[in-house]
Amino acid sequence: MNDLKSEIRELARKKNAVIMAHYYVNGDVQDVADFIGDSLALAQQAAKTDADIIVLCGVHFMGETAAILCPEKKVLVPDTAATCSLAESCPADKFEAFVKAHPGHTVVSYVNTTAATKALTDIVVTSSNARQIVESLPAGQPIIFGPDRNLGAYINATTGRNMVLWNGECHVHARFSAEKIVGLMAQHPGAKVLVHPECSGPVLVLADKVGSTAALLRYAIEDDATEFIVATESGILHEMRKKAPTKTFIPAPPDDSTCACNECEYMKLVTLEKLRNCLVNEAPQVTVDAATAQKAILPINRMLDISSRLAL
Ligand code: 13P
Ligand code: SF4
Repeated sequence: MNDLKSEIRELARKKNAVIMAHYYVNGDVQDVADFIGDSLALAQQAAKTDADIIVLCGVHFMGETAAILCPEKKVLVPDTAATCSLAESCPADKFEAFVKAHPGHTVVSYVNTTAATKALTDIVVTSSNARQIVESLPAGQPIIFGPDRNLGAYINATTGRNMVLWNGECHVHARFSAEKIVGLMAQHPGAKVLVHPECSGPVLVLADKVGSTAALLRYAIEDDATEFIVATESGILHEMRKKAPTKTFIPAPPDDSTCACNECEYMKLVTLEKLRNCLVNEAPQVTVDAATAQKAILPINRMLDISSRLAL
C-alpha cells in the first residue's frame, strides 16, 4: 500500500500533475491527494492550478468542471464509470424543455449536472454557496432551480423564494432515515446532528448544522460537542476523524440497514490502483466539446466571481 502511494506521488511529481480528491472518495485516495475539498473548493482549486495535469478523484461532473475551466490542461479521472445519480436525473434535452416552459426565469443549476445541462444554465451553484447566490438575485426574480429538489426546497424555505424545482435527487442522501436518526439522537443525547442539504426535509429539520461537506467538517472541528451524528456520504468521516481525533463521529444509517447505502458507489469506484494507472497512461481523459464548454464556462465563472466577491 505504501509502495503504491509512493509510486503515485512520484508519478505526480514527474508529470507535474496535481491530485484533487473529494471528501467522499476512499480514505487512502484522500491521503495521497495534494488537495481534498468539497465541490466548490475543487472547482476553485482547478481554476488556479499551474499543474500540467489535473487528476480529479471524484465523479465525472467534477472532472468536466475542471476540463471546462482549464481547456489547456489534461484532466484525468481514475474511472469514467464514476457518474452521479443526481446529475443523471437531469438530462439536458429534458431540462431544455423545462427551461423553455418557464420563460423569463433565471436558471440556477447545482454543480452536480452534466456539462450539457450547465450550458443551459445562467448561474451554477454548489451546496457551499447556493443560498447566498440565490439571495444575491433581485427579489421577485423568477428562478428555476435544478436538479436537486431537496436542496431547492431547503433554499426556498431559508430565503423565502419560490423557485420552480426540477424533480431530481441523490439516491444516497435521499435514503437517510429521519426515524433512525431520531433513534440515534436518543442514544447519544449530547451529539450534534450534521446534515447535507441534499437530504430530505424530515432529516433536515433534525439538523444542528446544515451545510456542504466542507462546512460540516469545519463545524465538527470548531464546535464544542464531542459527538456528532453525520448525515451525508460516509467518506467525510475519514477527514473528520483525522482533523478531530478526540471526537466521535457516528454515520447516520440509511433506511435499509442491510446495505451500505450511506456510501456513494460511484465515488467508491476510485481506488489507488486506478489512480496509479491513470497517471501512468494519462487516461482516461475528460474532454468537453468546445461549443458546450464555451456556454458552460459562463455560469461556472459567474459562480466563482460571486463566491469570491462574497468571500465564500
Ligand atoms: P459538496 O458540495 O458538499 O461537495 O457535495 C457534493 C456532492 O456530491 C454531494 O453529494
Ligand atoms: Fe452524486 Fe449523490 Fe454520489 Fe454526491 S453522493 S456524487 S450527489 S450520487
